[in-house]
Amino acid sequence: MDAIVLLRNDHKTVEKLFKAFEKAGEDAHDEKRRIVDQVIEELTVHAVIEEQVFYPAAREAAPDTRDHVLESVEEHHVVVWMLSELADLDPSDERFDAKVTVLIENVRHHVEEEEQDWFPEVRKAMGRNRLLELGERMEEAKRTATRDPLKVPSARE
Ligand SMILES: [Fe+2]
Ligand SMILES: [Fe+2]
Repeated sequence: MDAIVLLRNDHKTVEKLFKAFEKAGEDAHDEKRRIVDQVIEELTVHAVIEEQVFYPAAREAAPDTRDHVLESVEEHHVVVWMLSELADLDPSDERFDAKVTVLIENVRHHVEEEEQDWFPEVRKAMGRNRLLELGERMEEAKRTATRDPLKVPSARE
């Protein structure tokens, strides 16, 4: 699969989970726990394949994207720490919904920047064959990627 299509599919999966969270009732603690656990796994794996495979390749193919890539890694840093906090926070805690809401805001902003501001530039610079080859490597990397947000490289950067 084309690398950018793969990443956009991940974004859609996460957006669906966000919508489900927003629709869940105030006291639907079990449901919210399940949704947030899925968000943690999806975003952790997604951040790993972007940081280890896609971002370095993008920067190499389209050096003008450097600042976007650097900003994206900083945004990942914030997100993975929030994910690690959410993993340990009880959904009945009064801070839980507030933390998820801020996470959702951050991720929506981040995804919009990736999809609107700089992925198109990468697509142009790489071309179809290179994107397909990269997509294959990313699918492979997904299988073995950590599920622990604090093991994502940007957590320590
Ligand atoms: Fe990202
Ligand atoms: Fe992304």
